[in-house]
Amino acid sequence: MSSSNNHSSFQLELVIASTNMHKVREFKTMLKPIAQFDLRSLHDFPDYVPPEETGDTFEENAKLKAEHAAKTLNKWVIADDSGLVVPALNGAPGVLSARYAGNDATDLENRKKLLDEIQYLMEEDRQAFFECAIALASPEGLKKCVKGTCEGVLLNQDRGGGGFGYDPLFIKHGYNKTFAELSESIKNRISHRRKALDKIALSLESLMST
Ligand code: IMP
Repeated sequence: MSSSNNHSSFQLELVIASTNMHKVREFKTMLKPIAQFDLRSLHDFPDYVPPEETGDTFEENAKLKAEHAAKTLNKWVIADDSGLVVPALNGAPGVLSARYAGNDATDLENRKKLLDEIQYLMEEDRQAFFECAIALASPEGLKKCVKGTCEGVLLNQDRGGGGFGYDPLFIKHGYNKTFAELSESIKNRISHRRKALDKIALSLESLMST
């Protein structure tokens, strides 16, 4: 199953337990300045079957994804579970963000369902936040789990062509562009994923030195 290569034998291999190419790209960009890992994603392990995301919270799901992949692949793994939370919708889409409109729903279908759900909400009830839990695990088990959030408001139509998921609908407080209109480098400086990653950066740095 391993895709290890020879030229990077001095680097620690770290698997980003995701097949979401947008997430993987954001992680790779943000991890680069933290430490010189030999970064992989689940695309490098096509035979690996991830566990079902049965947790009730982002943290539970991040932990189970990280632990399962680390044990199965016998590697250090970082896993993220994230999504959008709308308090006026009792927390939906929440941990179901990726499958809000159904198991194989596209980002567009999920956004359409969200727009249907919020269409009658007053503007002040369109408050929302992204949440990201990141878990770090070794083949021996879970090492750390952290959380980051990013608060903002939802628009009533898509704006912008960048990003993924609910990005075209979300404006962070203090900004006037959606996450899909901001450049990737700005999103990577202010996002929920960045905030969580900042909290785990020290653990990753010390991993490199051991
Ligand atoms: P997961 O892969 O099970 O963690 O699901 C993540 C889902 O949450 C994605 O499919 C998106 O719908 C949503 N999501 C997570 N992070 C972001 C983000 O940074 N921007 C937009 N949507 C996100």
